This record gives sequence, structure tokens and C-alpha cells, in this order.
Amino acid sequence: MIFEQVATGGCQSYVLGCEDTCAAAVVDPEASQVDRYLALAARHGLRIRYVIDTHTHADHFSASRELARQLHVPVVMHRASPAPFVDMRVDDGEIIVVGTLKLQAIHTPGHTRDSMCLRLEDRLLTGDTLLIGGTGRTDLPTGDSDALYDSLFNGILRLDPALAVYPAHDYKGRGHSTLAAELASNPRLQHRERHAFVAQMKALDLGMPTHLTEALRTNMSGGKTVAQLIADAAAKVPFMSLAEVRQRVEAGEPDLVVLDVRERDAFEAGHIPGARLIPRGQLELRVNHELPDPTKRILVYCEFGKVSTLAAATLREMGFSRAVGLDGGMQAWLDAGYPVRTGGLTSPG
Ligand SMILES: [Fe+2]
Repeated sequence: MIFEQVATGGCQSYVLGCEDTCAAAVVDPEASQVDRYLALAARHGLRIRYVIDTHTHADHFSASRELARQLHVPVVMHRASPAPFVDMRVDDGEIIVVGTLKLQAIHTPGHTRDSMCLRLEDRLLTGDTLLIGGTGRTDLPTGDSDALYDSLFNGILRLDPALAVYPAHDYKGRGHSTLAAELASNPRLQHRERHAFVAQMKALDLGMPTHLTEALRTNMSGGKTVAQLIADAAAKVPFMSLAEVRQRVEAGEPDLVVLDVRERDAFEAGHIPGARLIPRGQLELRVNHELPDPTKRILVYCEFGKVSTLAAATLREMGFSRAVGLDGGMQAWLDAGYPVRTGGLTSPG
């Protein structure tokens, strides 16, 4: 078996492959690591056949849908998953066949209603049901500490204690553990009576994950995160450096239109000399009037360079094929000590 663990800021994901057939699966992929999974598979000569999420993640962005789209392979989750894009829903006890590897789904609700563990030979991918020295929390949507108690004490903790534990999170850089080690020393598992375990989970009082709404919104619907939207836009536009823009503005390059897409008050407080203003929210409706020549080079900027990246991609989509983003934003322009104009609009010309 080929088994690769990929750690990203506390998230653990896995590429597992069959050496005999070169079939592979990715478990709990994280959005920023798409190229890494593909590269790992390529390095081992594997073809990814399934993309599996152990549960609906509330704290990071799943790459399942994106990977499945790129590879034309199914997304696999437990049948209780709310995500409409899941292609293969599995239930407790069922097996996902990856070449000669057999991954057995064990439904372990508690952290979420759709949580499952995956048993593979001598190991158990525990998702967020059992972590090293901890368990998944039960206070997020569909969490249930009673159910988690059953999933642990009447479920996976009754399996062979020698099974290795590979969780979906570890914040201390530990790769894996065993069921025996967790039973012996995991502080959360020392409360073996149901009521004590449940009381312990209720008393945890954890802060909300930073991206809870966005993670649930995108992981449950397959929608895009803000970062993905900006990354997709950035992949479609070239950028110009601050120094290059300054030089071209000062040389009075006739072919260059500098376009500020911030709000009017920000523009009036200070803008790049010669810039025109079309706030991002009005861009599509005003371009024909404000930018009549689609063959001009349009340098788009905003405060920090994100909104302008989206705007430049939109302009390119609309046929302004020379739209360019500023590598930076007005803040970086100011930090560089470059010249600034204040006050009203420069009339379009
Ligand atoms: Fe989770």
C-alpha cells in the first residue's frame, strides 16, 4: 500500500494507493493542496479514482469537488451528507474498493451527523471522530455528544486496539497513534460513563472556527470560497508592478487607462494621478460609456489588490482583452511614497 499523509495547518489529508493496480483515493483533501495531491499521485504512478470526505468540514475548505471535477471521478461521503454534489453515498459497513485496497466505512455520528471512519488494513482513518489526544467537537451544526459517545465507546474503540489511528486534524505535528494508546492516555476518553463524557463535551466552551460560515456554505453546496474566486480571477489576468505603473503614468503613455474601482470617497481621499473612477459595483453597467475603446490597456487597482483582480478578470471576460491588475493596491502605492492626487474625478477622455 502507498500511504501519504499531507498536513496543512492542522488538517491531515491522505493519498492512499494500490501498488498492484495503481488505483488511488484521496481522503479529506484541503483546498490549498489540490496540486500536491495530483503531484503525489503522479510521483507514485497512481491514478486517483475516488475523492472521499469523512464528514462535512466546518473549519476548512474541502477540495473534494474541485479534485473530482478535474479528474472526472466521484465524490464519496456518508449518505447523511447534505452536499448535493456527492456522487457516491455510502452507509455503515460498506466497502469502497480501490484496486486491491478495501476501505470500510464505519458510520460514527457525533462530531457531525455524516461522520464516518474508514478502516484500511492495519489502520483507521478517524476523521474528526477520534483525534490524537482528543476528539472532534460536538457543538457545531449536527454535532451530538451522545452520538459521539456511542460512536467511540460502542463503536471504534471496540476494534482491534493495535489499529493505527490517522485523524483528519492534528495541531501538534503528530502523524498517528493507535487505538490502544488513545484508550490509555487520551484525556477525553478517560470519562467512560456516558453522562460524564457528555458533560465533559458540553463544558468545553470552544471558540467558533474562523471560517465557519464560509466553510459550511462552500463544503455543503460546492460553491466557491472568496479565496477561490480571487485565485480563479488571478489565473486569468496579468499584473503590472507599482514601479512600472508609476513610470508609465509619468511618461503619459497614451494607450494606458488607469482605473480605480474603489468607492468615490476612497478615490477622492487619494488616487493614482490621472486615474478614472468606476466603483466595482457599477463596473459592468458603466463600462460601455466610460471605456469606449476596448483596445486600450486598462490597469485596474483598488485598495489591496483583491477587488481589482476580480474586476480585471471581469473586464477581460467582457472583451477588454488588455485589462491588467496592479500587483498591490493603493495601500502599497502609498507605502512606496508614490505621488497621489486628491479630490474629484478626472474627467473621462
Ligand atoms: Fe471536522
